[in-house]
Amino acid sequence: MTAVDTRGHSRSILAGLLVALSLLAGCGRDRATPALKNAPPPGGGGRLVVGFSQVNHANPWRIAETNDIRSEASGRGYELILIDGGSSAAKQVKDVESLIARKVDYIILAPKEYATLRPAILAARDAGIPLILVDRMADAVPGKDFLAFVGSDFTQEGERVAEWLARRMGGNARIVELRGEKDSSPEIDRAAGFRRAIAKHPGMRIVASSYAHFERLEGQKVMEEIILSLGRGFDVVYAHNDEMAIGAIQALKAAGISPGKDVILGSIDGGRDALKAIIAGELGVSVECSPRFARRIFDLIDAHRRGEAVSARVINEDRLFDGSNAAQFIYDAF
Ligand code: AHR
Repeated sequence: MTAVDTRGHSRSILAGLLVALSLLAGCGRDRATPALKNAPPPGGGGRLVVGFSQVNHANPWRIAETNDIRSEASGRGYELILIDGGSSAAKQVKDVESLIARKVDYIILAPKEYATLRPAILAARDAGIPLILVDRMADAVPGKDFLAFVGSDFTQEGERVAEWLARRMGGNARIVELRGEKDSSPEIDRAAGFRRAIAKHPGMRIVASSYAHFERLEGQKVMEEIILSLGRGFDVVYAHNDEMAIGAIQALKAAGISPGKDVILGSIDGGRDALKAIIAGELGVSVECSPRFARRIFDLIDAHRRGEAVSARVINEDRLFDGSNAAQFIYDAF
């Protein structure tokens, strides 16, 4: 069964007190969690309870990720406690603390930001609750501060978009970059990977770079502002996710600029709307960042419960969609 938590104030105070007590009982930051020593299966034979702290449900990617985790948990007979972070990293810290206070058996955390979630990860470690970071990384060490990371290689995603665009543009382009959520690992790594790859092509230059928070409307708004300031002075848009690329396509069309002809776009995720835009000739490429990897998360939990050693990093294999294969894969897109 899946429960959606809407915690009240008094419960968060109680959670805070319990976390503080567990921190006092623990012996400091560098102690390895008992959970990382492949301790005997938690749960004492009852139904396994897994807490899941999700960033938000503001785009199709997040909804697909939650649905995948929800159905995998229920297929394995586990209880899932889902908490929506409402796009707030500070709330996510409290959400994890409340899962610790509820003594769940495992915590799955999709951290909004890289640095802010560190105290919550260490609190789970000190409470002896194995935590799995999913899709985004945070400022802590897998296999030491938390059980494992499962997700995509964001740096490589940025590199792959850059290489595709460099080929398509013959190594010359003025590029507009729409960045994701500030200080999140996909935003940091996708920016770095892209820059690393275009450094091999001196004619590929970034002429504007703005945050649009991984959201479609924001992508559209930011693109409108960039068109106002640059006019037609750009040839490529690199968006850190599909949603922002689709927003940008709308802004370009409204300004009389033809996406796919006047301006070539590349993005990341490989969602259904992106594949449709590729088929329509408006989006050039979308490198997949699959939100469906719950099977790997729960295989890892099951292996850990059996007392087996588990990998500290499990990296998803992602595909690349462009005009050559989008129609072939759209049936299965999220
Ligand atoms: O962390 C993965 C990223 O977060 C996805 O690319 C994006 O669409 C989501 O919001």
